[in-house]
Amino acid sequence: MSELDTLQHTLLSDIVAAADEAAIEAVRVSALGKKGSISELLKTLGTMTPEERQTRGAAINALKTVVGDAIAARKSELKDQAINARLARETVDISLPVRSSPAERGRIHPISQIIDEITAIFADMGFSIAEGPDIETDYYNFTALNFPEGHPAREMHDTFFFSPDEKGERKVLRTHTSPVQIRTMEAQKPPIRIIIPGKTYRQDSDATHSPMFHQVEGLVVDTKSNVANMRWILEEFCKAFFEVDNVTMRFRPSFFPFTEPSFEVDIQCDRSSGPIVKFGEGTDWMEILGCGMVHPNVLRAGGLDPDVYQGFAWGMGLDRIAMLKYGMPDLRNFFDADVRWMSHYGFRPLDMPTLFGGLSA
Ligand code: DAH
Repeated sequence: MSELDTLQHTLLSDIVAAADEAAIEAVRVSALGKKGSISELLKTLGTMTPEERQTRGAAINALKTVVGDAIAARKSELKDQAINARLARETVDISLPVRSSPAERGRIHPISQIIDEITAIFADMGFSIAEGPDIETDYYNFTALNFPEGHPAREMHDTFFFSPDEKGERKVLRTHTSPVQIRTMEAQKPPIRIIIPGKTYRQDSDATHSPMFHQVEGLVVDTKSNVANMRWILEEFCKAFFEVDNVTMRFRPSFFPFTEPSFEVDIQCDRSSGPIVKFGEGTDWMEILGCGMVHPNVLRAGGLDPDVYQGFAWGMGLDRIAMLKYGMPDLRNFFDADVRWMSHYGFRPLDMPTLFGGLSA
């Protein structure tokens, strides 16, 4: 076998053995690259006699053609193989279930849901939303609401006090949403019809109390609002909120510094079946809010003449009524940020509560 035949034989078997595109390129460089074995042979053509060139030269060129063609063929074969392997690897299994989108999985916290529900109910009765700061002055949280200096009711609120400022005044984390009554009366003339949902703070923590909790306050001030109006509004609210046709309410005399007369309101319910209380039936009573006619001193503190204006107000624990409505046993879970709890008790973001579409449906 001539030396050229041996080289051809070796190169052709290298070409067949090349397993991928990088390997075939390496064979090409070793044969036809600048310093490749065939290129080196071609360089010797110049030193040959014309006769030698005719025979050996033609043989070297033939070798170059054979090897070049074999490399090109193997290259395209390997390229096809690579594409086919990739197509096989990257197939999509269209029978796999689709993973739900974040918008599908996200949940609205029950507190936000309850605020939306309450807003929908009172907006329908012509109320608007009012807000105030979480950090309040002692004046708005207590004094303007007719809590006398040193009165035990101030202590009853388990207040979080800030350190005194240079004037010796201590700010507080508001213990209720009632200070916004005063801020609203200062800012707008009657008729006033507002609800005040918001965060409130007291030093208290157990299964039904959290140091940060939520209330919703209501305030109506005009020239002739009365207890009967208040009772109707609260009844309509309870029917809409608990999504029942009838509620029976009981007004018990009570005391709050900012209302006179003051009442605590119970609603009739059935507590016989565990944490989910049924409203509109049963023989049990459940306290749900405090209310009363706005005290003349409170109207005065708000800049209104009690001989001209009168009003009523109420305050309610939001977390508590959320627990009642949705049968949630422990308030602390509300603030644990546990996604498992949220996906169980949370609400779908696009199911906005409306009176026409249903509040919690
Ligand atoms: N502020 C009271 C509380 O936190 C609740 C309350 C009772 C508010 C009677 C009112 C009201 O506006 O009239 O315990």
